[in-house]
Amino acid sequence: MAKSTLSFVCQNCGAAFNRWQGKCESCGEWNTLAEEDTGATSMPASIRSKRRGRTFALESLTGKSQDAPRLSSGMVELDRVTGGGFVRGSVLLVGGDPGIGKSTLLTQATSMMARAGHRAVYISGEEAVAQVRLRAERLGLADAPVQLAAETSVEDIVSTLSEGAVPRLIVIDSIQTMWTDTVESAPGTVTQVRASAQALIRFAKKSGATIILVGHVTKDGQIAGPRVVEHMVDAVLSFEGEGSQQFRILRAAKNRFGPTDEIGVFEMTGLGLREVSNPSELFLSERDLGSPGTAVFAGIEGTRPVLVELQALVAPTTLGTPRRAVVGWDPSRLSMVLAVLEAHCGVKLSGYDVYLNVAGGLRIQEPAADMAAAAALVSSLVNAPLPTDAVYFGEISLSGAVRPVAQTSARLKEAAKLGFGRAILPESARGEAGGDAGLVLNSVGGLTSLVAEIAARGTPRANREASRDGPAEKNATPPRFRRENG
Ligand code: TYD
Ligand code: MG
Repeated sequence: MAKSTLSFVCQNCGAAFNRWQGKCESCGEWNTLAEEDTGATSMPASIRSKRRGRTFALESLTGKSQDAPRLSSGMVELDRVTGGGFVRGSVLLVGGDPGIGKSTLLTQATSMMARAGHRAVYISGEEAVAQVRLRAERLGLADAPVQLAAETSVEDIVSTLSEGAVPRLIVIDSIQTMWTDTVESAPGTVTQVRASAQALIRFAKKSGATIILVGHVTKDGQIAGPRVVEHMVDAVLSFEGEGSQQFRILRAAKNRFGPTDEIGVFEMTGLGLREVSNPSELFLSERDLGSPGTAVFAGIEGTRPVLVELQALVAPTTLGTPRRAVVGWDPSRLSMVLAVLEAHCGVKLSGYDVYLNVAGGLRIQEPAADMAAAAALVSSLVNAPLPTDAVYFGEISLSGAVRPVAQTSARLKEAAKLGFGRAILPESARGEAGGDAGLVLNSVGGLTSLVAEIAARGTPRANREASRDGPAEKNATPPRFRRENG
C-alpha cells in the first residue's frame, strides 16, 4: 500500500495545501478546502521510482494523420455547437443547472446515434436504469438500441466498454458521481472527479470513442469540481435557459475542434427537446406589438442571424440610487449607453429606474445591440412605441456616434425574411447593405438623431416627464426633442 499523503484540496480550483485554512490562497474562495488523500496511487512508490520510461516515436507536423473524422449526432443544433459532429476520441463536458434538460438532451443524442447503427452507451450514475427507461419511453425512444447501465466505478466502466466493438458515443451522467480505486477520496471531491475524468479521457483517446461527461453547475453557474476538468476536455458546452421558459440554448465555452460562438436552440416540450432551426421566429413569437419600450435587434450568433426583442422599462424612481437591472445583456454596456444618452443627447435618466430585458432567455454578447437598447430605453422614457416593422443594430461609441458592425447583409436578409419592412442602421453600413436588401434603410449617423426621432413620436405627458430635470447641459439636446419639451 502506498504511503497516504493527506492534504487539503480546494474544491473550487484544485489547489492543495498542507494544512487547513479558511480561505484558499490560490483562488480566494472561502471554506472550500477539504481533506483528501492525494498521494495514494495504485502503484507503490518503490515500483514507480524503478520503472523506466518506454521510448516512443516522435513525428513531424506534416504527416498522414487523417482529418479529424466527425460523426453527426443526428441533431442539427447539437452538431452546430460541436462544430459539425463528434470528433473521434474527443471528450466533451456538458454543464447546466439541475433540471435544465442535460439528461434529456443526451438521451436523445445517444438514441439517434444508436438508431443510425452506431454503438452508443449511456451510463447513469444518478438515476436507476428504470428511471432512464421511463424517460426514453416518454421521449418515444424506447426502441432505440442504446446500451444502458447504472454504474459509478470508472474501472468497471472502462473494462466493460473495452470489450466488443468500440462504442462511438459514451455518455457519463454525471462525472461527479464517478469514482476510481486509484485515489482514496470520497466520490464528488476534486481529487476523485479529476482522477475519474483522467481515466475516462485516457480511454477515449486510446479507443477513439467520443465521451460526453455531464457536469453539475454550482450556484454561480460554474461547472462544479475542479476547473482543471475544463482544461482536460476538448470541449465545454453549457446548457442554459430560463426555468420558466421553454427555450434552451446550448453554447460552447471552449471547443478544440470548432468555433465557440455558435449556439444551438431547443424548445423543451412534453415530448423532449425539439430543435429550433429558426430561432428568430421563436424569440419574436410572443412579441408585444406596439407597446413602448420594445425594439427588435438584428443580431448574429456565430454564423446565424438571430432577431430578438429588447424590452426596456424606464420608470421614475423612489430610491436615492436608481435601480439598473439587466437580464441577458452586459450591465456595463447598459451603463455606457445610459451615460452616452445623458452626456450627448440630453436624456436625463438619473431620476429613473432602468430595466432592460432580452426576450426569450437569450444572452447577447454583441456590442451591435447598443442601438436597439438605446432605442428601447428612449421609447420607454418618452412613452412612444417604435415602428413594429423595424429592426435596429449598430454599435454606439462614447462620442455618441453610431459605428458600423459586421455582417450587415446577413442581418438585413433575416429581417426581410421575417417580414420586417425597415432597418435602422449605422450610416456607414449602407454601402455594405447593397440596394437589394428588400427593406427601407434608415441610416443614423449619431445617437442624437435617433433620440430626436423617437422623442418626436412621444406623448406630451411623457416628454414633460422626461425633461423634469430641466434643460440639458449646453446645446446637447437635439432640436426636435427640445422643441417638444417646450
Ligand atoms: P433532465 O433532462 O432530467 O434535466 P437534468 O439532467 O439537466 O437535470 O430534465 C428535467 C426536466 O425536463 C424536468 O423538469 C422535466 C422536463 N422534461 C420535459 O418537460 N419534457 C420531457 O419530455 C422530459 C423528458 C423532461
Ligand atoms: Mg440529469
